[in-house]
Amino acid sequence: MNIDIKRLQLEIDELSLISENPPPVVTRVLFSEADLRARDFVKNLCREAGLLLREDAVGNIFARWEGSDKSAAPVATGSHIDAIPNAGKYDGVVGVLGAIEAIRSLQKTGVKPKRSIELIIFTAEEPTRFGIGCLGSRLMSGVLSPQKASTLRDREGKDLDFWRAQGHKNEPVESVRLAQNCYSTFVELHIEQGPILERESIDIGIVEKIAAPSTLQVQLTGVGGHAGAVLMPERHDALLAGAEIALAVEAAAKTSGSPDTVGTTGVFRIEPGAVNSVPCRAWLEIDLRDTQLSTRDAALQKIEEAAPEICERRGVKIEMNRLNVDPPAICDANLVQMISTICKDAGVSHKRMISRAYHDSLFMAQICPTTMIFIPCRGGVSHRPDEYSSPEQIEKGVAVLAAMLAQLAE
Ligand code: GLV
Ligand code: MN
Ligand code: MN
Repeated sequence: MNIDIKRLQLEIDELSLISENPPPVVTRVLFSEADLRARDFVKNLCREAGLLLREDAVGNIFARWEGSDKSAAPVATGSHIDAIPNAGKYDGVVGVLGAIEAIRSLQKTGVKPKRSIELIIFTAEEPTRFGIGCLGSRLMSGVLSPQKASTLRDREGKDLDFWRAQGHKNEPVESVRLAQNCYSTFVELHIEQGPILERESIDIGIVEKIAAPSTLQVQLTGVGGHAGAVLMPERHDALLAGAEIALAVEAAAKTSGSPDTVGTTGVFRIEPGAVNSVPCRAWLEIDLRDTQLSTRDAALQKIEEAAPEICERRGVKIEMNRLNVDPPAICDANLVQMISTICKDAGVSHKRMISRAYHDSLFMAQICPTTMIFIPCRGGVSHRPDEYSSPEQIEKGVAVLAAMLAQLAE
């Protein structure tokens, strides 16, 4: 394979500088100025590679290398370029810029695909703006309805239509939905975001299953007041109710009976946020996942029972809603086997594994056979500025992706 890793690394580095924060921090929230500039950067690379561009009503970007048989369902690949606050430069990006390099390498090698190869750059894989992850692929697969999407609000109360207008997207959201099997297959290249490949010195992870995520949103209304004047028995502190709920999340995950249950209260905001004022309002966003549904759902139920009890005891009002409760995805066995054979033939070490992080593949699996190619990342670190995969590791992942795309498009 003809992978130009130097060029690809330069592109990864350049894209990382398009950020809401100075380097090494990468932050690109949906339809922020940085997100829009990053989209332009990637679209330019796609144009330079001769790909045909289309964009849908929520900003999912499709870049197609036309195959000779236009009636055949294309092969799809892709990932995301949005980044959570305080992120690094590889999450999602390796699967987008890596796919462009995979296509360029196939073009250089003289491959003439029969099926078109389509790169998808998904809108808002990260949940930062609206609390819900994989907004673009959820809408594409029909898992999220346009009606429910229209109820989403960000912290400033702005809705999807407001942000679509910033990205010059005016067509109806209904048009985002894709037909079943409109793609023959979907393969996503991604960093592992966990420690297994590095620890075991393995080059490639082949994803067989993606863990089941869920998100709860909690709004707490207590009673504010003067930090000096309101005596302790009189308090209805929204923060303290939230803190107890966060501990209940930890307890539910730890006692689920499965080591794979993980619970995180990753958002906790309070009002008024003054040192001499009792917190009167709190917002929590809770992320609960597992590789199997039964333990995830039992833990979810425990949290939903504990939270109102805590609030009742503390005289705090609670509103809680399930933003998303998703099943796991099972990857396509034939695709998994194909990657395994490609790795074997190339002498690349590999193992089958579960993705504990979610990805747009979770929802693409609803519309076509899907799998993922993982590469190691240093210390298993992700969602942090020190996230790192070496050029050699990226090159191997891109080479496997390129070989896979070439075979699938034959
Ligand atoms: C994706 O970024 C996830 O949170 O798993
Ligand atoms: Mn991520
Ligand atoms: Mn990602």
